[in-house]
Amino acid sequence: MPRDSFGREIDYLRISLIDHCNLRCVYCMPLDGPALAPPADVLTAAEIETVARAALAAGFRKLRLTGGEPTLRADLLEIVARLARLPGLGDLTMTTNGVRLPALAAPLAAAGLRRVNIHLDSLDPRRLARIMRRGTLAEIWAGIEAAEAAGLCPIKLNVVVARGFNEEDVVPLAALTLERPWHVRFIETMPLGTGAVAALARGRLVPNTETRARIADVLGALAPVPSVERADEARNYRLPRARGVVGFISPVSEPYCADCNRMRLTADGRFHLCLLNDDELDVRGTLRAGGGPEAVTDILMRAVRFKPTGHRLDLGRSTERREMYQLGG
Ligand code: 5AD
Ligand code: SF4
Repeated sequence: MPRDSFGREIDYLRISLIDHCNLRCVYCMPLDGPALAPPADVLTAAEIETVARAALAAGFRKLRLTGGEPTLRADLLEIVARLARLPGLGDLTMTTNGVRLPALAAPLAAAGLRRVNIHLDSLDPRRLARIMRRGTLAEIWAGIEAAEAAGLCPIKLNVVVARGFNEEDVVPLAALTLERPWHVRFIETMPLGTGAVAALARGRLVPNTETRARIADVLGALAPVPSVERADEARNYRLPRARGVVGFISPVSEPYCADCNRMRLTADGRFHLCLLNDDELDVRGTLRAGGGPEAVTDILMRAVRFKPTGHRLDLGRSTERREMYQLGG
C-alpha cells in the first residue's frame, strides 16, 4: 500500500468530477462569479479511468466521486461503469447533494456504485433555503429515498453546522437515526479559499463538542460505536435504542490529519495533496502528452510522498487557490 513520508497509508482517492454545483451552499460556493474550469481542461471519462486504474494498481482501494456536484456530469453513469470494473477496487462511493438521485440512483447502483453520502443541513424548508440558495428539502428527501430504494446503503447524511443557520436543526436531524438505519454526520465548517465563503466558514464555526451536547441534552446519552473503516474521519455514536449512527467530523477542533489516508484528483486533472493546502501535481499534461499508466503512477506516488503533515487552520492558514466546490470535501 502506498505510504507517505510520515508513514501514513494512503489508499483512498477522491475524484472531483466537476467544479460546479446547482445548489451553492453559503459555506461552499459563491453565488456569482467563480471562474469554472474551461470544459477542455476537465478530465474525460477515459482519462479518469486511466488515473483510477493506476491508483488501484499502486495499492489504492477506495474511490469516491465528488464535485462540486458529481451528478451534473452528463457522463456520470459511464464513469461509474468504467471504474466499477477496475481490478483492485474495494469500494466505490459518491458524495452528492441528492437532488438528481430520483432519476439516477437506480442506474448508478446498476452501474456499480455502492453507496452515497447526501448533503442535508436542515429538515426545515425555510432554513434550508437560506443555506442552499437553490434546491428544496422535498427534492433532497426524494433523492434520499431513491438512494435507499436502490440499495445505496447505509445512507450517510452530511450535515455542515453553521452558526446562525442551522445549529438548532441538529436535534431533529440526529433523531432521524432513531427510526432509520442511517448515518447522520455533523461536520464543522472548514474555510477554503480567501473569499466571502471562507470568511463565513471561519466566522460561523460551531465546535462539535457543542453540537454533541445539544443532541445529547434532548435525545439522551450517545454511546460510542467503534469504527469499521480503518481511517474513519467520523467519531461515531448511537442514541438510546437508535437504529442508525450519529457521527461527528471535527477537522477544525479535533484534526485527524495523523490518520489521513486520502489523495484527491481535481476535475481539471491535478492531484491535490491535502484538502486544506494548495500543493498540487499536474497529471492532465502527462495524460494528454500520451503518458502511459507508469507515468501516471509515478506522479501519483510523488503526490503521496509529498503530502503535507496536516492543515494549519490553527495558524489561520488554508488554501488560496481552491475553494470547497472545486475539491468536494
Ligand atoms: N466545510 C465543511 N464541509 C463542507 N462541505 C461543503 N462545504 C463545506 C465546508 N466549508 C461538505 C458538504 C459536502 C461535502 C463534500 O463537504 O457536506 O457534502
Ligand atoms: Fe453543492 Fe454540496 Fe457545495 Fe452545497 S456543499 S454547494 S450542495 S457541493
